[in-house]
Amino acid sequence: MSGPKGARGRRFEGGLDPAAAALNASIGFDRRLLPHDVAGSIAHAEMLAAQGLISAEDAAAIAAGLRSVAERLTAGELAWDEALEDVHMNVEARLIEEIGDAGRRLHTARSRNDQVATDLRLYARAAAARLIDGIDGVRRALVTQARTHVDTLMPGYTHLQRAQPVRLAHHLLAYDAMLERDRGRIADAARRADRSPLGSGALAGTTLPIDRARVAEALGFAGVTRNSLDAVGDRDFAIELVAAIALAQVHLSRLGEELVLWTTAEFGFVRIGEAYCSGSSLMPQKMNPDLAELLRGKVGRTIGAWVTLMTVVKGLPLAYNKDLQETQEPLYDAVETLEACLAVARGMIDSLEFDVARMRAAIDEGHLVATELADYLVTRGVAFREAHDVAGHLVRLAAGRGVELAQLPLDELRAVHPAFAADVAGWLDPARAVDRRDLVGGPARNQVLAEIDRIEAALAASPV
Ligand code: ARG
Repeated sequence: MSGPKGARGRRFEGGLDPAAAALNASIGFDRRLLPHDVAGSIAHAEMLAAQGLISAEDAAAIAAGLRSVAERLTAGELAWDEALEDVHMNVEARLIEEIGDAGRRLHTARSRNDQVATDLRLYARAAAARLIDGIDGVRRALVTQARTHVDTLMPGYTHLQRAQPVRLAHHLLAYDAMLERDRGRIADAARRADRSPLGSGALAGTTLPIDRARVAEALGFAGVTRNSLDAVGDRDFAIELVAAIALAQVHLSRLGEELVLWTTAEFGFVRIGEAYCSGSSLMPQKMNPDLAELLRGKVGRTIGAWVTLMTVVKGLPLAYNKDLQETQEPLYDAVETLEACLAVARGMIDSLEFDVARMRAAIDEGHLVATELADYLVTRGVAFREAHDVAGHLVRLAAGRGVELAQLPLDELRAVHPAFAADVAGWLDPARAVDRRDLVGGPARNQVLAEIDRIEAALAASPV
């Protein structure tokens, strides 16, 4: 009986209006849930048998049948049927076709509402693990480049104006710091998704003597959800995950933007490998950083996904409402977008060739060591505000003359402030200026090396 009419059953005489069926169907996207749906159903059937709700033979037939259906659907031997609305009903209908009566017992003590909530949590957990791998891949690429460029100096910027010299490694590791937090946020979202909703039924649990904990354990969940209405009615785990994804994508967009800038003739700091650039259909000389631009541009859809999810769930009465089906596509899109971007970012970073000489030369212009002059005076007992004034005055003097601070003779410095002595020259060497910033979080060589060691050790401890 439970043929193609699926969940509508005998309550209805005819099928859905075709336009309604098209809008109602989720099979076009929720087929991604297939492996999770099958895993959830096998765990459920085995529990039903252990509880004496179905026979052991039926449970075995169901498990084998589900595996075969999944294989054949994946291989394209079986077609997805739009009329069957979603992945859950496609799988169940195919199972019944395959094994007959036993298949009709699978949905005992279960609803599609707790089923889809379970599948989505399993999906979120698996996606989070893949994204964490992807993030660690990008981090490995960053830290490898950082190790290569410990001694590459470059201007650090504020307001996109040259500000103070730093190490390229330090700049690269700023992205590692962002991605490390993104990783933490994704792991945290996965931890909260890690509860089994099965047993919540349509909304109010079940009268049948099931064992929720057993199913949870079989599926590797850390525990069970604590309120049936909430378990079928919320998707906050997806919202959290997508929020973390959107923020990771924000970070990739900043990296993408810097690469776009740095590859311009104006900056000329880096070349992106050809495998990550495209040409122009019109201008033969062009090598465009399209992929870096896409790292920047893809952020829009992930933020959009988060806004969509928040908007769909906002104001929904308890418990399940079909609106919740609309939380699936933004979740998949955000996951797939970030996953793809991480893979590209990793390869692109590996492919980067920095113009070390050009970066170094950019420090020598623009009075980047002005702060050093002020700090020097502070070490001679001058109040910082006064020292800052003096350094500012000297910058003005040098700029007016078209020279750099290091080119001002000592007696001119002394004429502006008597605390200047011969040792000030050492303070105006950018390499020494960087190494004087010897504090945790700073760009000094030993600090950056220690940070590289710390990150490498953390990455080695997490599986590749
Ligand atoms: N495809 C549905 C979804 O994603 C499955 C749950 C349907 N439940 C229902 N009561 N119509 O939400």
